[in-house]
Amino acid sequence: MKFENLVVKQNSGIAMITINRPAKLNALNKATIEELNQAFTKLEDDSEVRVILITGAGDKAFVAGADISEFASFNAKEGAELAAQGQKKLFDTVENLKKPVIAAVNGFALGGGLELAMACHFRVASFTAKMGLPETSLGLIPGYGGTQRLAHLVGKGKAMEMIMTAGMLSADEANSWGLVNHVVEPDELTETCVNLAQKIMKNSPRAIEGAIRSINAGFKDGEDGYATEIKEFGACFGTEDFKEGTSAFLNKRKAEFKGK
Ligand code: COA
Repeated sequence: MKFENLVVKQNSGIAMITINRPAKLNALNKATIEELNQAFTKLEDDSEVRVILITGAGDKAFVAGADISEFASFNAKEGAELAAQGQKKLFDTVENLKKPVIAAVNGFALGGGLELAMACHFRVASFTAKMGLPETSLGLIPGYGGTQRLAHLVGKGKAMEMIMTAGMLSADEANSWGLVNHVVEPDELTETCVNLAQKIMKNSPRAIEGAIRSINAGFKDGEDGYATEIKEFGACFGTEDFKEGTSAFLNKRKAEFKGK
């Protein structure tokens, strides 16, 4: 896959997307959001890909936010459209992807950058990472799902504090707040994410897809997570992966899941 603002590499079932605008600290402009939509859609449909990792180019930033230069002159209608389009094309797409998406947070994850990391299924950070939603310092609020996903991840009070103060958390603070799952040395970030991806790849892709839908359902208005779980649990029984997983267990061998 060839992109102007991304580098996408695939190896042994793992795809790595690197947002590649280091001179602008990988800020998310419209073109990058468009390319990310294309990349995620293609990787979701690619049967060779089992887990997707996303990171930022360089050692300074994951993503330093939405590209401020693109929206500085917007009016209210254009602002609302920017948020709606971005949420649909990128943030909701990532959250609802059938395949696991892990954010490898390698530096500043601010504004839209933290919102992107939070839309991923989970996050691993380098100890040099800094995370925050500084939008109120620009006269804005987070518009790519940050007010919702941050509160889901860290709780309402902490989300209120982070957004009102526009402050940044260190990786260790983010870890203790439950915003990231692991904090590692910068040069161990990719390896840690690959190791997690390899553990995930031992399990049934069909079951993982159902688990993603069920967990997400509990955080969506108008959806019943328990009812979704029952439906997804039942659906597993009709899959080849279920037959393979149970027969491998009973025959004391390793399961070879095909994701069918
Ligand atoms: N949008 C557009 N450009 C951005 C950007 C963003 N969100 N974040 C950084 N950049 C650009 C800078 O304008 C600068 O470009 P230039 O060299 O052409 O002037 C380049 O990236 C490097 O950033 P700089 O500010 O010089 O780096 P720094 O080390 O001094 O500061 C940050 C790093 C992350 C603290 C600072 O860039 C920052 O506060 N960025 C904005 C964060 C933000 O508010 N995000 C939410 C947006 S809604």
